[in-house]
Amino acid sequence: MAQAINSRRGPVTGTAKRAKKRKPFLLDLYSTAVGKKYVMAITGIVLIGFVITHMIGNLKMYLGKEDFNHYAEFLREMLVPILPRTVFLWLFRGMLVTAGALHVHSAYGLTIINRSARSVKYQSPRDYQVANFASRTMRWTGIIVFLFLFWHLADLTWGTVNALGTSAADGKFVRGDAYGNVVRSFERPPVALLYIVANIALGTHLFHGVWSLFQSIGWSNPRFNKWRRWLATGIATVVVVGNVSFPIAVLAGIVGQ
Ligand code: HEM
Repeated sequence: MAQAINSRRGPVTGTAKRAKKRKPFLLDLYSTAVGKKYVMAITGIVLIGFVITHMIGNLKMYLGKEDFNHYAEFLREMLVPILPRTVFLWLFRGMLVTAGALHVHSAYGLTIINRSARSVKYQSPRDYQVANFASRTMRWTGIIVFLFLFWHLADLTWGTVNALGTSAADGKFVRGDAYGNVVRSFERPPVALLYIVANIALGTHLFHGVWSLFQSIGWSNPRFNKWRRWLATGIATVVVVGNVSFPIAVLAGIVGQ
């Protein structure tokens, strides 16, 4: 009883430590595993939306150089004249980078939380019926996609790794010719292979990501599992088939200069 009364008493002397200042609600929520799962799911939805839209936009490649380059120019002109040219694109890039950074940060944070919750490693083989291939490889497919993204930007946006030739005919990156840059890049079989491998890794990541995001936001019920699986399979398949078709179409000569 005396103990209970003592624990309710405030500090008696000035030497007692002050109560910790409370963090703002959202930061407080983010410091928990549930908060991190929410952030991972919401940023995941944003990134999935981008990946699907990007793939659909890239299908313009099959309509030819003029249509594809017109589309690339349209991205820079979005919301003109409400905003100056490329401002919307930059705002959009800012949103993507923020979503990507939060996605990686929350994934890292959750790994740390999970590790500290299990200080002793699994002593027996994991139950791989529950944890399927996609879920076991999430970290690795995530790292592959992350590294691929740097290559991809250096290849088709900055042009730093696609600038080896001295002229467009020689494979040089040409600003304003997105179509030509894609074709010149994919004409190199090792680069085409890299895109294929990275997109298969992306598909695996998307499959498990879409499947588990329902769990993260608390919408999981065995009755919906069939639909969840269909949605995860559908999104992953559409993105992989669409994206892998581009390097193959260039190598097969279906898409060319
Ligand atoms: C074979 C598949 C792909 C093709 C053909 C492709 C093509 C392109 C092209 C041509 C650009 C430059 C656009 C421009 O400057 O106007 C670009 C930019 C970009 N791509 Fe891809 N892409 C592919 C896959 C991906 C994937 C899988 C991701 C993400 C995981 C991705 C993320 C991006 C990003 C973030 C940009 C920069 C957008 C910007 O800031 O303007 N791409 N892509």
